[in-house]
Amino acid sequence: MRGQLDDALHLYGRVLEAQPEHADALHLTGVVAQQQGRHQDAVALIGKAIAADGRAAAFHNNLALSLMALERIAEAVVSFSRALDRDADHLGAQHGLSECLNRLPQDVDGALLEAALLPLLRARSVNARGLGHAAGRLLERKHAIGAEGSATSRRSCDEVLDDEIVRRYLQRTVNVSVPLEALLTQCRARWLADAEAAAMLAPSCRDGVAAVAVQCFLNEFVWAVTSEEERSIVVVERRIVDVCSSLSSANEALVSDVLVYACYRPLWRMPCAARLRTWPVDAWPVAARETLRVSLHEPLGERDLAAGMESGAAIRDPVSKAVQIQYEENPYPRWTAITRGASQNIEQWIRRWNPDYVAPADLRGTLRVLVAGCGTGMDAINTALHLHNAQVTAVDLSRASLAYAMRKAGEYGLENIRFRHQDILALGSDAESYHVINCTGVLHHMENPAVGLERLAGVLRPGGVIRLALYSELARAPLQQARDLIRASGLGPRTGDIRKFRQQVFADGARGPLAELMGSTDFFSTSECRDLLFHVQETQVNLPGIRALLAAAKLEFLGFELGIAEVEQGFRREHPGVALTDLGAWAEYEQRHPHSFRAMYQFWCRSQLR
Ligand SMILES: C[S@@+](CC[C@H](N)C(=O)[O-])C[C@H]1O[C@@H](n2cnc3c(N)ncnc32)[C@H](O)[C@@H]1O
Repeated sequence: MRGQLDDALHLYGRVLEAQPEHADALHLTGVVAQQQGRHQDAVALIGKAIAADGRAAAFHNNLALSLMALERIAEAVVSFSRALDRDADHLGAQHGLSECLNRLPQDVDGALLEAALLPLLRARSVNARGLGHAAGRLLERKHAIGAEGSATSRRSCDEVLDDEIVRRYLQRTVNVSVPLEALLTQCRARWLADAEAAAMLAPSCRDGVAAVAVQCFLNEFVWAVTSEEERSIVVVERRIVDVCSSLSSANEALVSDVLVYACYRPLWRMPCAARLRTWPVDAWPVAARETLRVSLHEPLGERDLAAGMESGAAIRDPVSKAVQIQYEENPYPRWTAITRGASQNIEQWIRRWNPDYVAPADLRGTLRVLVAGCGTGMDAINTALHLHNAQVTAVDLSRASLAYAMRKAGEYGLENIRFRHQDILALGSDAESYHVINCTGVLHHMENPAVGLERLAGVLRPGGVIRLALYSELARAPLQQARDLIRASGLGPRTGDIRKFRQQVFADGARGPLAELMGSTDFFSTSECRDLLFHVQETQVNLPGIRALLAAAKLEFLGFELGIAEVEQGFRREHPGVALTDLGAWAEYEQRHPHSFRAMYQFWCRSQLR
């Protein structure tokens, strides 16, 4: 390797002797310096290359990588942003910019934070969910939203929505800013009052209203609605239905009504949805197209997919039936994109969490992968995209969730994935066996998770691996107070009640007993809030319980996926020399740090080689 680098350096040197400003040679010499850890030299050389010709995204990305290595994060942000300006789908720059965001201090300068966030929000291929809190904070500061005495006038509303980053944020991920939600809820009420009085939106407002409509679809209309608004929506809906039967494409007044209506209800459920569907999206003004796509065409497409879906045996278990109803009503989660990464084999995949893992011969060819309880398909599609030789079967109780997953798999052009409507409890009847199983956030919604795990272990091949994610009793304990309150108030898992409960938490404010909920992304959409607090069936486990579950299913623990670096560091500090696979030590650690597994216990196991 060293010899090859020296040869390359020699070659580029000769080019540079002849042409000292040769951009490619400067860049490649810089890349060699980078690979040799000489980041100062790399910055100087790649900087010169960019001065000679700054068109290539790769130049800016490589410059940013060395700047990051030198902890010059602010400059790295600028360079990654430039790379993404030139190529919005540049994977390295997307990952680099996300990494920079994690390294920026909480009180970072707003302009810098915006420079990091905007390119990521612009790129449709980035999973923007993780950006919500940083973006929400930025927008509150930038527009003084929620600040004492801040205006909530029509003007302030227009001004906020005139900002590209606000609109991108609303279209790309669920908003998690309480003051922004409050402001936009008021804006929406004003638009509706105008619409009821047959006043059209000003053309300059359309982009903003359309972004709010997409946001409301993404958060499943979780924002508060007054009874007056409920009445006005019906008036606007009636008008849309009347008008659309006599038109063959949208006129200005209809566009205005449809956009406002879509801020309150999904278009695909309108009585005239079938007629609207016959009008091509491109026949609508540009501002309205994304709303039409998201709120009308995609869900109707999912309904078609659900009708032709493969099905296993009928769902009979009473708890499965109750859980099915919840996820038919609220498919979960409504994700938009998976950030792409490098493809890996199963050994590399698991070594991220257990460096000693060696895959047996049976796991080195084509891998049959089962994603059990795949929901809306994010894990299944991620596996189909990024795990070498994977043939994925994904099953779930909810046809609505599966249809969402099927639509997304189609968007990614995947052919190595099939979806089946099926209860995990009925697995095993078709003699299928799998090399890899992923069952995330599912077993704890069964009456007895041990029975579910037994079914999964029954279809796992000898030496096969399984990823599980289960709720931690300790980490979920603080939610009990909210659940008690919900029960005592007679609230149920209905959208109206979920809205009511959220408004109560907002009204109690930052000092209220449940204020912590406002820091959780899950609190900001109907399905996630229902999942978090109104679930029809939830059990939690602890680490001794997990040990018992695994022993009963004859599974060997391979290691946690520790998403939060501090947890691993803390464990190593407090249990020096103890293996990361020691569940007894982890149980002690969790008692001292009950938030460690806030994002569930996520871990890998393997079955014995027979
Ligand atoms: C919290 S969601 C998690 C979805 C997905 N695994 C994820 O992590 O995004 C739980 C999912 O498990 C499914 N589920 C629950 N019990 C199931 C069962 N017995 N068989 C199949 N799917 C089940 C539900 O329908 C729901 O989609």
